[in-house]
Amino acid sequence: MPTQKVFIKNFGCQMNEYDSERMLESLALSGYIETSTADNADLVILNTCHIRERATEKIYSEIGRLKPNKAENPNLTIAVAGCVAQAEGEEIIRRQPMVDLVFGPQAYHRLSDMIAASRQSPQVELDFNQDEKFSVLPAQRNNKRVSAYLTVQEGCDKFCTFCVVPYTRGKEFSRSVQEIYDEAKNLVQAGSREVILLGQNVNAYHGQGNGNSSWSLANLIWKLSDIPQLERIRFVTSHPNDMSEELNVAFRDCPKLMPYLHLPIQSGSDRILKLMNRKHTANEYLDVIKNVRSYRPDIAISGDFIVGFPSENEEDFQQTMDVVHKVQFVKSFSFKYSQRPGTPAANMKQVSKEIQEKRLAKLQSLLFEQQKLALSDSIGKVSKVLFEKKGRYPGQLVGKNEHFQVVHAMAKDELIGDISTVCYTAASSNSLEGSLVV
Ligand code: SAH
Ligand code: SF4
Ligand code: F3S
Repeated sequence: MPTQKVFIKNFGCQMNEYDSERMLESLALSGYIETSTADNADLVILNTCHIRERATEKIYSEIGRLKPNKAENPNLTIAVAGCVAQAEGEEIIRRQPMVDLVFGPQAYHRLSDMIAASRQSPQVELDFNQDEKFSVLPAQRNNKRVSAYLTVQEGCDKFCTFCVVPYTRGKEFSRSVQEIYDEAKNLVQAGSREVILLGQNVNAYHGQGNGNSSWSLANLIWKLSDIPQLERIRFVTSHPNDMSEELNVAFRDCPKLMPYLHLPIQSGSDRILKLMNRKHTANEYLDVIKNVRSYRPDIAISGDFIVGFPSENEEDFQQTMDVVHKVQFVKSFSFKYSQRPGTPAANMKQVSKEIQEKRLAKLQSLLFEQQKLALSDSIGKVSKVLFEKKGRYPGQLVGKNEHFQVVHAMAKDELIGDISTVCYTAASSNSLEGSLVV
């Protein structure tokens, strides 16, 4: 079988990164090797994100940029995968006829067949069979990452009024405990020391456990913590309404579960939360945080925010700022509301771009202050760092501490994949510097 080269460009969330890794692994079985540029590729896959307008528009310019490649090599296959593919389907080929293949996030296990078929005519595959995907993908993982992603749950039934995910990823689906356990063991065998369990609503996980019983995320975490050499477990992204006592207990009692929780709130205004269909109030969110902190006082909390949601006024925005003051986030992601076609909020009364920008700048400066404070607070303290790879400077490694903060330290390459004790000596705006404690 002649070797073919594949170039994947990834956009969007961690789940897309996981999907891209799995596509590469499947393609390797059909003789493809990865290349780092589209210029010498036989197959280019753009794994796309639909979450905000700008993310979607970017894809069309990315495709346009491949025009000279296609002119030079008419056998080049151009594939658009992921959430834009799911949302726009054939429209992509109508707008950019040089695209050969469009497939959604639940169809990539049939990639080799689709590539073959696309040599005859353009292919569009938007099936939603999540169950089939995971059972068909090869069980063997050849991931070499110290910290690896592992999708345990996909899709979402919550239908927040701003969000496309329920339409692009489909309904909520949890993989079975056994399947996840086997994959985690595979990852550890290949060198991973940490797994980050992924789900759009990961704490709503309810996969098949023993027999027909349904297991919660907490049960799954306890089970995975049996795997020797798996040192650390994390999960992302959680919804406030699905935080359970069991998970709080796991944060307290499971030594492998790291003290970091990404818990989006989106807005601090109850009126806006209602319009968003979040089904919780700001105080309920604060109670969830208070509760988890009562089990694990040092837990690091990060969040997601949307400013300028339809009809948001100054008072609503101030309430978001108030929540941020109360929580003290270690890290955050904040966005201007973006109108998404087909979602209910797209038809509500919109807030002007200028106001959105002003509010975002104000919110981000507060969030940034909190992030810097969390980092500078660590100076002089000692904690455990899992080194993941070489740093930018010779002799430097980079890794993460328990609280998911990025740490740089001078250390030998042999320490990659090991957990070392580090004393922090300095903080930049988004990472810590430290030295090994021996
Ligand atoms: N499942 C997660 C997040 C999914 S999307 C959750 O429940 O929170 C990641 C983040 O993108 C969201 O938390 C939200 O802050 C942001 N986002 C989603 N849709 C958006 C939109 N239409 N405009 C701006 N930001 C959006
Ligand atoms: Fe989107 Fe809401 Fe589902 Fe998160 S919970 S993926 S924001 S619909
Ligand atoms: Fe984007 Fe799809 Fe993830 S829309 S954020 S790639 S689930």
